[in-house]
Amino acid sequence: MKPGCNGTTMHPAILVTGGAGYVGSHTVISLLENQSEADPFDIVVVDNLSNAYRAEGQKKPEALVRIEELTGKTIYFYHADIRDAKALSNIFENHKIDSVIHFAALKAVGESVQKPLEYYQANITGTCTLFETMRKYGVYKLVYSSSCTVYGEPQSLPMNEAHPTGDLTSPYGKSKYFCEEIMKDLCLSDQSWAIISLRYFNPVGAHHSGRIGEDPMGIPNNLMPYISQVAVGRLPELQVFGNDYKTVDGTGVRDYVHVADLADGHARALKLFRQPGFNGFHAINLGTGTGYSVLQMVKAFEEASGRSVPYRVVGRRAGDVAANYADVALAARLLAWRATRDLPDMCRDTWRWQRDNPKGYQA
Ligand code: UFG
Repeated sequence: MKPGCNGTTMHPAILVTGGAGYVGSHTVISLLENQSEADPFDIVVVDNLSNAYRAEGQKKPEALVRIEELTGKTIYFYHADIRDAKALSNIFENHKIDSVIHFAALKAVGESVQKPLEYYQANITGTCTLFETMRKYGVYKLVYSSSCTVYGEPQSLPMNEAHPTGDLTSPYGKSKYFCEEIMKDLCLSDQSWAIISLRYFNPVGAHHSGRIGEDPMGIPNNLMPYISQVAVGRLPELQVFGNDYKTVDGTGVRDYVHVADLADGHARALKLFRQPGFNGFHAINLGTGTGYSVLQMVKAFEEASGRSVPYRVVGRRAGDVAANYADVALAARLLAWRATRDLPDMCRDTWRWQRDNPKGYQA
């Protein structure tokens, strides 16, 4: 074990890039909450705070401050960009990094069409710099934050991992796909690598404490944060993007999955690395396997919150598909994982977070 700067011994560490963001912060708290004394590890977060709030005078972003309050544990935090090779090397010098969970990325589909270079820079150059640094320090275990976006237009439902990938329109989606291809090539080039790419369907929900949640900057792009901001009175009404799809009620159907279940999926992926001989590239869907329409989401949210969510149907949003939901058999088989939280849980936890933090972390 490396000695810590204050004389204490340092445990093997999990490096979490983008750990101040939505799925990243929920994964950090889940790992810390489930840490056993017999198996200690440190959590090291690197985040450039491009989409995370840090209060003036604070060293750490608000999400991590609250996680430390809730768990009573310390998180090592570095304010740095993963494209900064020097800053990354410094982290690997300071900690005994054992594995990496890589969330850091830009993620707005529409914005990526306007700013392709920024997206490729952040998501691909950043990822390559991270991999170079990992290789330099002999760290080969990686969990990657991917998305069902890599599948593009569904050719069959539910979607399993054998569904073709790469026929995509947005630079965001392409960047996730390109990173998966890079990871496959890495694994072919060197058997030391063990990489699990978790393809999330639609993450929603918040930590049950109501202290940690999704805090989108500006007007939300995604359905659940939009609904919850309407319910709390921050936005006047929801625009429903199209009601003429071939679905249960004409509105878009998606596989919403609780962020705490996703977090648990990452913890299980890390456990897989302990299996002797486990290596190579593995893509795994994380979803519930069940799809809900926009109007079903509105109704469920109204029931959970006791608030009304006024909406107006407008035209379809460019690039949207009618329906999308996951085949989750591989996650069950490889990770022994399945989503345990249902739609009322997702709505209740989102609402608790939104009600208690109407302005997100800045309140
Ligand atoms: N929707 C509305 N009104 C809104 C927002 C969304 O009606 O204000 C609808 C959409 O048309 C869609 C559904 O709600 O039918 C879900 O939309 P989201 O934007 O919440 O989610 P998407 O499925 O479009 O996007 C998600 C992730 C992306 C990822 C994509 C892959 O947010 O990062 O899945 O399909 F790329």
